[in-house]
Amino acid sequence: MKKPKIDSPIFFVGVRDNGIISFGSGQPDLPPPRQIFNILPDYRSFKYGLTQGQINLREALAKQYPGAKAENFVITNGASEALDLTIRALSQKFHGGKIMLFRPYYYSYPFLAKISGMTPVISDLKEGRIDLEDFKKKIKGCKAILINSPSNPTGKIESIETLKEIEKITQKLGIYILSDEVYKDLIYERENYLLHGPYVVTINSFSKTYAMCGFRVGYLYARDKELVRAVVEIKARTSMNTGILSQEMAFEATKVPRRQVDSQIKIWRQRRDLIYKGLKDMGFDLWKPEGAFYVFPKIKNANRVVNDLFYKHKVITYDGAWFGNPDRIRLSYALDVKDIKEGLRRIKKYIKGKESWLK
Ligand SMILES: Cc1ncc(COP(=O)(O)O)c(C=O)c1O
Repeated sequence: MKKPKIDSPIFFVGVRDNGIISFGSGQPDLPPPRQIFNILPDYRSFKYGLTQGQINLREALAKQYPGAKAENFVITNGASEALDLTIRALSQKFHGGKIMLFRPYYYSYPFLAKISGMTPVISDLKEGRIDLEDFKKKIKGCKAILINSPSNPTGKIESIETLKEIEKITQKLGIYILSDEVYKDLIYERENYLLHGPYVVTINSFSKTYAMCGFRVGYLYARDKELVRAVVEIKARTSMNTGILSQEMAFEATKVPRRQVDSQIKIWRQRRDLIYKGLKDMGFDLWKPEGAFYVFPKIKNANRVVNDLFYKHKVITYDGAWFGNPDRIRLSYALDVKDIKEGLRRIKKYIKGKESWLK
């Protein structure tokens, strides 16, 4: 039988099989916090929940953001739904309008913009960082801007000065910032800088920090009450409440001591160093990740590489084209050291004789 050509991430999301080394989807292999399972033996509630999200979870989240209240939050099916609902609500408010995206981008962004009726305005990153000059040229006329620092797929973080400058300019122009901070707890270099202000929508999730991807709990936090209301109105007529058992488990996760979360950084840094050095030694050109758990090395014929690595070597990688950058592949290093080493060994075998593709 002819093997289907791999041309979308949906080919790989959730794929697991013995023998496959997956540098594919970014789901932590580390276990979720033990504490979240404590509620299971006594859990009995199966009725509809509040569309906006369970109060206890929203109150717990409000404590994490200075000056926030439970009413500023909407609990969603992962950050994915928070992004979707926010963009749709903005599109409703502005009857479409332009939204600025930085390329390379997380592959859902342009898709979400388009299906909601917004027009993406693309600004290319310069060496993986926002080009402020280009941003300033293109921002006028935009209704919103989407920022993702640390970034999937680049693994880079924006400087605090850049973030503050963007905060200042957008606030003056009344432009919304959607700040996708799902990797905010995975920064190797410094503390996270929380973008804030009347037009900022912070989007986050329990998927990465607490290794709870499949539980599908995320949220948005916004000062703009009208926007929160518009989001809840859409959610009430689409997915309705986020799974309440998942929300209760997420609530338990909010009680996990900070040091338990921070202690994982050591593990991620070790993996980052291993994959970065491994690929560098093979001759790949790539940025050293400063956050999240992705590397984004250059390679020619990226789509063929992704197909060959999967069908011939049982290694999953993502095509850079899905992120708007066709001459790269993305690898997630959210897997243990043994698997990273084995994956690197297979890639090395495949690359042999193709060194010119790395230039
Ligand atoms: C930048 C970014 N935003 C959002 C998501 C979606 O996360 P969630 O599982 O919370 O829907 C991902 C998942 O990989 C991501 O990388």
